[in-house]
Amino acid sequence: MLQDKRVLLIVGGGIAAYKALDLIRRLRERGARVRAIMTRAGTEFVTPLSVASLTGEKAYTDLFSLTDEAEMGHIRLSREADLVLVAPATADLMASMAHGIARDLATTALLATDKPVMIAPSMNVQMWLHPATQRNLRILEGDGILRVGPGSGDLACGESGDGRLAEVMDIVAAVETFFSARSKAGDQPLAGRRALVTAGPTHEAIDPVRYIANRSSGKQGYAIAQALAALGAETTLVSGPTVLPDPDRVFTVRVESAREMLAACEAALPADVAVCVAAVADWRMADDTRQKIKKNSGAPPALKLVENPDILAGLSARANDRPRLVVGFAAETQNVVAYAQAKRAKKHCDWIVANDVSPATGIMGGDDNTVHLVTADTVEDWPPASKSAVAERLARRIADHLGEPTV
Ligand code: C5P
Repeated sequence: MLQDKRVLLIVGGGIAAYKALDLIRRLRERGARVRAIMTRAGTEFVTPLSVASLTGEKAYTDLFSLTDEAEMGHIRLSREADLVLVAPATADLMASMAHGIARDLATTALLATDKPVMIAPSMNVQMWLHPATQRNLRILEGDGILRVGPGSGDLACGESGDGRLAEVMDIVAAVETFFSARSKAGDQPLAGRRALVTAGPTHEAIDPVRYIANRSSGKQGYAIAQALAALGAETTLVSGPTVLPDPDRVFTVRVESAREMLAACEAALPADVAVCVAAVADWRMADDTRQKIKKNSGAPPALKLVENPDILAGLSARANDRPRLVVGFAAETQNVVAYAQAKRAKKHCDWIVANDVSPATGIMGGDDNTVHLVTADTVEDWPPASKSAVAERLARRIADHLGEPTV
């Protein structure tokens, strides 16, 4: 599957560097050609000799080595690759990448490359959660850098939490997904298809100045709309209030309340696929309150609520213009898959993307997601990934499900 693909592997300095050896082996088993650059710290954890034996090439280590530069300059190294893979990507490497710092061969190659870059972060949990690292991560994702992991669990430092290098086979799978998606690039498997996506929270007015809301950021839904559009679908995004810009090539309709969202969804039909990601408020005020409720009007007001329409269930139940594929989301903190299966049955949708929002994984509003794809008879566990990576994978699955493009 990776036959003749050229991977430039940058091995950063972390305890997980030893896993780079297995990674090289697995990539080469699949036919990839792997060339490695090691940071100085990386060479403290694994020897260039081991790396060289496994890649079958010299391990490049130092920008200022005249022989290295004579044999293979950093520009050539960075360009003669189809993918630059940074594993392990330390906090320090991520910071250098985010800020364009080039101080050794690895960081210089990363700055000089014009090729896609994928990082597999690995570090102590506090370093990963540090606002500086999270800020750098956002910069890198904004730059289009791909990411796999980190996973969660026991860390070499004795603590536990996020920060473990993704499993080697998950990194290999991410590399394979990258190449298979790219080999299909240019093709538009969703050309001629219409997609509808809901995203963000809804705001339900309590009175003219107050409202009921929730913490949904809209990021996952926006990424899905963008990924569907990138595969050629004519995409309508019906979004509750968010701070996000309209995604490229997507027709975005901004609404406030659940009822407005429902109306906008109905107006967007027919569609081949509907993906309901919005965190629609379950309730709204029973009556319209046209004046601001006064604080000093006696006892605190009792808010009389009524249930909002369920947009996902409504789309799934449509008689004549039901989208061929209706996908819902389910954010859960426990029994994630079981609850998702129950929700799929109850709402009569085709698939549920169950996202684990327990604190150990993707926290609402974050840039990551750990999901399970629940269909009528299967459950797939997807590794932790950025919301854009989850979106791309889901869009690709939707394209496979809908079959050949119609134009
Ligand atoms: O029931 P729950 O809110 O957990 O279900 C989540 C799924 O249902 C999501 O796909 C969400 O977009 C959808 N939903 C909806 N309309 C509602 C409530 C949820 O479309 N009123």
